[in-house]
Amino acid sequence: MRRLTTLLLGLAMAGCAVAAPAPSTIIPQPQTIQAGQGTFVFGRDTRIVAPADPRGREIGSFLRDAIRAQTGLVLHLKNAPAKGSRIELRIDPSVHGDEAYRLTVAPGRITIAASGDRGLFWGAQTLLQLLPPRHAGTRAIPAVRIDDAPRYAWRGVMLDVARHFMPVPLVKQQIDLLSRYKINVLHWHLTDDQGWRIQIQKYPRLTRVGAWRTEADGSRSGGFYTQQQVREVVEYARARNVMVVPEIEMPGHASAAIAAYPSLSCPRRPVPVPASWGVFADIYCVGDEATFAFLHDVLDEVAALFPAPYIHIGGDEVPKQQWLDSAPSQARMHDEHLADGEGLQSYFIKRIQRDLAARGKTLVGWDEILEGGADPQAIVEMWRGPAEARKALANGNRLIVAGPFYLDTPIDKLTLEDLYRTDAFADPAFAAHPGQVLGAEAPLWSERVTTRNAEAMLYPRVLAFAERLWNPQAHDYADFQRRVGAQYPWLDARHVAYGPEDRDLVDYQLSFNPQHLRWRLRAARGFDDVQLRYTLDGSEPTAQSPAFGDVLDRYAPGTIRVAPFRHGVPYLPSQTFEIVDNRALGKPVSYRIAPDPRYTGTPAQLVDGVVGTDDFRDGLWVGWKGSDMEATVDLQQPMALHSIQLRFLQQSGSWILLPHRVDFAVSDDGKAWRALQSIPIVVDPLDMRATVHAVRFDAPAPLTARYLRVTAQNYGRLPAGHDGVGQPAYIFTDEILVQ
Ligand code: ACM
Repeated sequence: MRRLTTLLLGLAMAGCAVAAPAPSTIIPQPQTIQAGQGTFVFGRDTRIVAPADPRGREIGSFLRDAIRAQTGLVLHLKNAPAKGSRIELRIDPSVHGDEAYRLTVAPGRITIAASGDRGLFWGAQTLLQLLPPRHAGTRAIPAVRIDDAPRYAWRGVMLDVARHFMPVPLVKQQIDLLSRYKINVLHWHLTDDQGWRIQIQKYPRLTRVGAWRTEADGSRSGGFYTQQQVREVVEYARARNVMVVPEIEMPGHASAAIAAYPSLSCPRRPVPVPASWGVFADIYCVGDEATFAFLHDVLDEVAALFPAPYIHIGGDEVPKQQWLDSAPSQARMHDEHLADGEGLQSYFIKRIQRDLAARGKTLVGWDEILEGGADPQAIVEMWRGPAEARKALANGNRLIVAGPFYLDTPIDKLTLEDLYRTDAFADPAFAAHPGQVLGAEAPLWSERVTTRNAEAMLYPRVLAFAERLWNPQAHDYADFQRRVGAQYPWLDARHVAYGPEDRDLVDYQLSFNPQHLRWRLRAARGFDDVQLRYTLDGSEPTAQSPAFGDVLDRYAPGTIRVAPFRHGVPYLPSQTFEIVDNRALGKPVSYRIAPDPRYTGTPAQLVDGVVGTDDFRDGLWVGWKGSDMEATVDLQQPMALHSIQLRFLQQSGSWILLPHRVDFAVSDDGKAWRALQSIPIVVDPLDMRATVHAVRFDAPAPLTARYLRVTAQNYGRLPAGHDGVGQPAYIFTDEILVQ
């Protein structure tokens, strides 16, 4: 009401020369905005006046540099009162709230007032959002008064740099972006099975060995941050109001550390740094004092590098079989009067918690730290669901909500709008424990995220997340979407490779048409201006490679390698499709047992000539859950057969195991069958490496048949020692190749 009155008054006074101020484009939406009268016009004589203390001066410099980068205007920074056109940053205890600020834009003077430097900085960020996104003719801002403060204090984004390493410049750019949208925590997931990313001086093998892995294709990949780089990132974030909370995973997700120092696990067996995803059996040994001495030393160095009063220790997804099989761990269970593996988990976490508390650090852990009982001083990060959140609150723990905000979820499954409409705090239990609900985090796990698509997964969805946490009262999605649209020019000017709002960046589908002997690669594009470029010689596509729109047709087998480009820049890792000529191509195929509908592809998937990629969810692999796989192919006429080959996948972390045995048979009429060969396979269900195993029948003598049948015997139930013990295993195969 007040806003309207002021606006009408302004119009009346200025006559028809003044247009209504443009609606706000600020994200997150401030708590209140009131339009004022007139405009503030930036000029060469405009000064920035900042408090004289070091942080005040630093915020003044940040604002000056950002205004210069955005508008080209070079303003002077002063620490003493000034007259004339000015932007004044000042400490004002009457603005209540640690991060609260008041921004007043009036002709001749902009004021940012806050009770402390955190609010002053957010006020500066809001002011920058009021400026034109890049060098432009207009340097005027309509008068306005904004009173603002966040609803939740913990507004975090988690970057998993363990599964795929992200170099320092990329991390810094994310800090710039998070800070712009008033996200104040960067949760840095620094260690996991597939990589140890932080230099620890006392244990050089953690990075010499643990930061590198051999991929399925034989290439080496990895990387790590030196302590100097860590300090640089922490400092960069501090200057931008972002606290960096490190995560050092324990007791599970520790394969990279165990690869470096095998004695850290109970069996003390050497393991490679894995190059596949899932949950791994090798964990830190709870029965061994040397494990705790090691972790103490590591946390010493970590605590010294990160000034934040919090250290995240993971604690999720811990298969405890190694503890149950280890005499010292069993002795620990006995000595500490613990009932079971969960009791050991609780012992482990509480012991680390005391170690952290002695350094003044609070432990943060995923909700599995509640297993076996948690100390109420720990902060619980909920990911598995509201039941875990309720448990944590009832136990007196403070809570961070992450479950609904997983940004590694494909965009079409968690759209910008889905995220905007997620009310993660609606649970009545939350209202009953208001002081314990700190806020939320949006995690970006990186199994399927690399430097190429990290920003596409983060933005614009982080903007919706930021608004949810800052101002849950804002509910007008159409208005939010309009404000997001206004951010794109700014993001473009900074070369941010943001993604679509409601679709995946590119979604490939390769199908075979047996009538036309034609393979058609369809690419559904998330942006109309994404260009798909391809090569046929296996090389990486470049900005000069031939392009296609939505469809690429091929009439010959071979290799197609495709990559999306936007504004001339590659946007995602390239995708390789391998098409193999063979005699079963396009022939009728039938299954005795239908495959799992989630891993079925098209009905003729096994005879389309297209072999699977290294992602079992690519639609090219066919999967059976708990049952045997039996496929019969009708070659439609008697043919001379030399070989029949199939490939099977093992990714034990995803419950996919090789079959025990593969049987080959042929028939002339589809009724009477002749067994050809039975090939046994030795399966190690606890071998977590991603393996593709080819099984091949070679005809020892001339062989002619019209029908062929392949039967693969399922491993059965997952054994003890496996995270999914007792669950049925999958069989995955991609193609029946007949020569
Ligand atoms: C998690 O997603 N394993 C915390």
